[in-house]
Formats: sequence, structure tokens, C-alpha cells
Amino acid sequence: MSVRRLHAIQPDSFAFTAENLAWAKQTVAKFPAGKQASAVIPLLWRAQEQNDNWVSKPVIEYVANMLDMAYIRVLEVATFYTMFQLQPVGKVAHIQVCGTTPCMLRGAEELKSVCQNRIHHEQHHISDDGKFSWEEVECLGACVNAPMVQIFKDTYEDLTPATLEKLIDDLAAGRKLKAGPQIDRHMAAPFGGPTTLTDTLLYDGNRVFTRVEAPPPPPPAPSAAAGTPSGVTPPAGTPSPAPAAPKSEEIRPPTPASAATDAQKAAAEKKEQAAGAVMDSKAKTETNIIRATPDGVKETSSISSANDANKPKK
Ligand code: FES
Repeated sequence: MSVRRLHAIQPDSFAFTAENLAWAKQTVAKFPAGKQASAVIPLLWRAQEQNDNWVSKPVIEYVANMLDMAYIRVLEVATFYTMFQLQPVGKVAHIQVCGTTPCMLRGAEELKSVCQNRIHHEQHHISDDGKFSWEEVECLGACVNAPMVQIFKDTYEDLTPATLEKLIDDLAAGRKLKAGPQIDRHMAAPFGGPTTLTDTLLYDGNRVFTRVEAPPPPPPAPSAAAGTPSGVTPPAGTPSPAPAAPKSEEIRPPTPASAATDAQKAAAEKKEQAAGAVMDSKAKTETNIIRATPDGVKETSSISSANDANKPKK
């Protein structure tokens, strides 16, 4: 990006019109006391619109005085954002051509050639009839519809050299433009219409999805606090806790017209409770353990593996 400096020739003064001044006061009042500097961008933008679409030194000083800001702070904002023009521009349009990679790969160079042929070979120069100027800028945030240009507040996307030529013709003739994509595309949707989720059966309410959930973790092993000596293993043949069966349930997507009825909801709850009961019964198993006594006699007992029945049985 080129260095952005104030123009060599500056007007003597600037002041908002009565209408714009009233709007500016309302805008500043939207911010808390002491934070009026937050209104600097909207005020600069309104001043630019009033000042033939460019920001002069008197504009910067006027806005800074109104917001009680140092001039340098407002100058920083005006020179940082390419939305602010620092020199006179075309009376009808200043065309900003995005030249960043996605737009460049999709034909931004050809769009620049159109501007060079139709407006001026050098950017930031006004056309002979005074109506147009152009410049190359960095990404304007519409990469998905590259290549594109911005003209004041609006963007014009999915351009070709021919459609940009037509845009310039329409502007010169005072015709109304359609902002956004210049092809058969809605916003940033796929060209020619949707390409995914197009199966109408997805939306008739009859499709059933089955969700399989991961099995719950195994029950905890007997702890030393519960009387299990470390290093003692159960005798061979002791049944290990059976793994719980995966829980599955049927899920129906809501129909376009209405949600599930109360009867459907009640049936689903009943089914879920039944599945839970099966899981509980499977999870409860007993495990024999051997405990060594001080006199060397081994004692056998069993415990339940269920969380709420973790006590040795006689
Ligand atoms: S690269 Fe051109 S709009 Fe982002």
C-alpha cells in the first residue's frame, strides 16, 4: 500500500451543514461522557461525504475540535483507513479495486486495466471529464465473491472486465446500480443455487436418525479402604463385570410444520427409562475377593460392582 499523505492543495475551511451538525451531535451523544472520541470514524465519514468525497486538512481539524481530540489522532485515523480519501476524487465515483491475492487470482489485474483505460492510467488521478478516479486497495472482505470493487459505501462483486465496463457506463449515465454480486448468486451462496442439503426428504419429518452413544465407563475397582488387600487377585474363573451395552436412541428431526406431539415425547421418555433399567441390571455383578487374616487363614467374600452396593457380603 502506498504512503497516504494529505493532499498538497487544501481548502481554507470546513464546517458541517446545519443538518449534518445536528446529526453529528446526536452521534456524539451516543457515547459515554469522556468517550466522544469514539465517534471519530462516523464523523469523518459524514464530513467526507459533505466535502466532495475526500478528507481535507480543515475536515480533520474540524472533527478534532468537535471531539476534543489532538489533530494528530484524527490524522492517524484518516490516513490509516483507505475508506477515507485524502485527495480530490471523481465527482461520480471513486472506484477502489481490490488487488489482494484472492481477487488477484480471479482477475483483479484485468479490472485494473479497465480502470486504466476508462479513467486514468495512474491511480489517484481524476478522469478528463472529472467524473471518475480509481485506486488499488487491500482486501475489502468480499473475497468469496472475488474479484470485486468498492464504490463509496457499496461493493460490486463477481466482476469481469465486461461487467465493470457496464458499471462505469451506468454510473456515467446516472443509472441506478445493483450492489453486491453481479452474477446469479445470492449474497455469498454458491453460484447457481444451493449445492448441499438439497434432498427434500431431509425436511419431510419422516427421516429417523439413530444415535449410538459410547458405553459408560466400567465400575470402579474395589479400593483398599473397602478392605481389599493389594496384590491379591480373585481366583481363576471369577466372572468379571459385564460391559454395559451401548445406549442408543432414535431421534427424529422436528417436522417443518410442528414439533413432536406430547404422545411422541412420552413414548420416547418411556423407552429411555427402559433402556436405563437394562443397563443398571447389567452393570450390577458380584466379584469374589480373598482376604488374608493375621493367622494366615484366607477368607473369601464377594462384593457388588454396582456403585451403590460396594460393600462385602458375608
Ligand atoms: S481479496 Fe479481494 S475482497 Fe478479499
